[in-house]
Amino acid sequence: MAFGDYQIELYLGALGGVLPAHPFDHAERERVALATLPPELRTYVAGGSGTEGTQRANAEAFARYALIPRMLRATTERDLSVELFGRRLPSPLLMAPVGVLGLCTPDQHGDIHGAEVAAATGVPFIGSTLMSDPLEDVAAARGDTPAWFQLYTPKDRALAESFVHRAEAAGYEALVVTLDTWVPGWRPRDLASGNFPQLRGKALANYTSDPRFAEMTGPDPDPGTTVMTWVGTFGHPVTWDDLPWLRSLTDLPIVLKGICHPEDARRALDAGADGIYVSNHGGRQADGGGAALEWLPDVAAAVDGRAPVIFDSGVRTGSDVLKALALGADAVAIGRPYVYGLAHGGVPGAVHVLRSLLAETDLIMAVDGYPTLADLTPEALRRLA
Ligand code: FNR
Repeated sequence: MAFGDYQIELYLGALGGVLPAHPFDHAERERVALATLPPELRTYVAGGSGTEGTQRANAEAFARYALIPRMLRATTERDLSVELFGRRLPSPLLMAPVGVLGLCTPDQHGDIHGAEVAAATGVPFIGSTLMSDPLEDVAAARGDTPAWFQLYTPKDRALAESFVHRAEAAGYEALVVTLDTWVPGWRPRDLASGNFPQLRGKALANYTSDPRFAEMTGPDPDPGTTVMTWVGTFGHPVTWDDLPWLRSLTDLPIVLKGICHPEDARRALDAGADGIYVSNHGGRQADGGGAALEWLPDVAAAVDGRAPVIFDSGVRTGSDVLKALALGADAVAIGRPYVYGLAHGGVPGAVHVLRSLLAETDLIMAVDGYPTLADLTPEALRRLA
């Protein structure tokens, strides 16, 4: 079945009197999700850093490009599959790591539900270090779909090693090391509401289930000790000097998340990184940085096919996915859209978001005459302004 056939399913459902339960457009998804989430989560999920100019720019950047339609190609069959780290995946989509996902469902098991969404869609789940269930329980829900683990590198190296080895043992197939969040960015919406879930002891299950962290807190810690121990170790500012150590911890592919400069990309590959993840954290970390999409072509040129390039930040539609692919991404991660789907509609809500994105991507490839991802080159785009 083609991804685009999701529309047939929806139209047939409507003929049978069943209208879709979940929205199709990002603004509406955000509206219904925020109405469902408790107030302390709304600013954390929807907000960004500073004026939120970077966050807006991320989503707006895609409109500066147009995909040029090509005709007479009878693109009745499309192939969206991609090979990443030796695994053939049905599509180039990934679920971006989201640290409070666990709190986004009423039962507080949103990370497990994220993995269930992966199992249902074939879209790999990248689990954050900041989970509400231990990474082992989350991995167990992923079905046949690969999962990756995102590492916030703790200052305590033994704890970092423990996380990596646990992730490896639990079956995660790649390690995504996030570089831009060793310190939280300036987030006025969260500051105004005094809201930072981890300081309330939330999303720390990977720490509280860890033997090394237990050594650090001592036995039976009270909640204050747990949080203060976490504060003390959370954010090691990873440098080039740390990369050989990270490399020595695991044979898993290492993907560096947050790379936006071609020189950083080149140097990362020379240092043994296996994948480059272009992202500005959805504009949550540093304002004034422009759209992540603007940095993608130069980074992709610097990588020059030596490793997969993954992109996120601002992807809201199928045409956004296609534009990121045409500008050099091998895979595209979805952030807030699936979080909103999960918050509003649980697993079916997030499955709907991903299936809708895949359907739209597939149908644009069909209509515009681009049958494979390899056909999506920079020449397929026109820069409008
Ligand atoms: C994130 N992101 C993130 N990234 C990461 O590496 N580890 C994490 O724990 C989190 N946590 C997190 C929480 C929330 C609420 C959001 C919205 C995002 C960043 C995420 O992986 C991705 O880079 C952005 O979500 C992409 O931007 P958009 O497309 O969601 O706007």
